[in-house]
Amino acid sequence: MAEKATAPRHIAIIMDGNGRWAKKRMLPRSAGHKAGLDTFVDISDACNDMGIEYLTVYAFSTENWNRSPEEVSALMELMSRGIVKYEPEMVKRNVKLKLLGDLDRFEPVYREALLGVEERLSVNTGMTLCICLSYGGRQEIVHAVNKLLKEGKTEITAEDISNSLYSAGVPDPDLVIRTSGECRISNFLLWQSAYAEYYFTDVLWPDFDKKELVKAIESYSKRERRYGR
Ligand code: IPE
Ligand code: IPE
Ligand code: MG
Repeated sequence: MAEKATAPRHIAIIMDGNGRWAKKRMLPRSAGHKAGLDTFVDISDACNDMGIEYLTVYAFSTENWNRSPEEVSALMELMSRGIVKYEPEMVKRNVKLKLLGDLDRFEPVYREALLGVEERLSVNTGMTLCICLSYGGRQEIVHAVNKLLKEGKTEITAEDISNSLYSAGVPDPDLVIRTSGECRISNFLLWQSAYAEYYFTDVLWPDFDKKELVKAIESYSKRERRYGR
């Protein structure tokens, strides 16, 4: 039986368009990333206020390591500092943080800072915020399979893979939003999005606000999820 989509339990967002937002204003790309970070905090707070149980954001992909060293290091610093700065608010809001990705590629000082925040927020019981950092969907699946092989598994089930992904324990996303007009997945949550509903908007990430979020959720709520039935 088809199911009328109600409120999404898990929203995932590909936060794209920071560079173009900056370019339109004749600003350096780093200004776009700064504005994007502010939007991330606002949208995370908005999801929290709306009672969304899980929010996953794509902040930095495996492929983003191929950007210029200047942009990569500016992003590392901005994201690490941003998350550290956001910690007291997350504490207040009872947010649980989960970092998804290959953090081993981070400079130790940033990695330690981020893992510290994740650890301190692990006791929280409110919204789970997953931040994908140095994340790629294919790499995540390969990592999960290698983990299972190391555990001695010789035959693997879909459930085994789900339980070995970085996102283990987090339900699959119901709604995946991508900003900036690009209609592609760019290696985001490949396994988990098998039955997600997609919402693409031309709005650039730094311009995305609560009103746009509500529009995406309304579009989702009108859909019928069939799951092949
Ligand atoms: C998204 O904005 C942020 C990251 C990928 C880190 P972009 O930097 O991709 O911005 P555009 O796509 O060039 O506008
Ligand atoms: C996807 O955006 C990654 C993040 C938003 C972190 P990109 O800008 O890197 O993706 P492509 O290159 O347009 O596919
Ligand atoms: Mg982009």
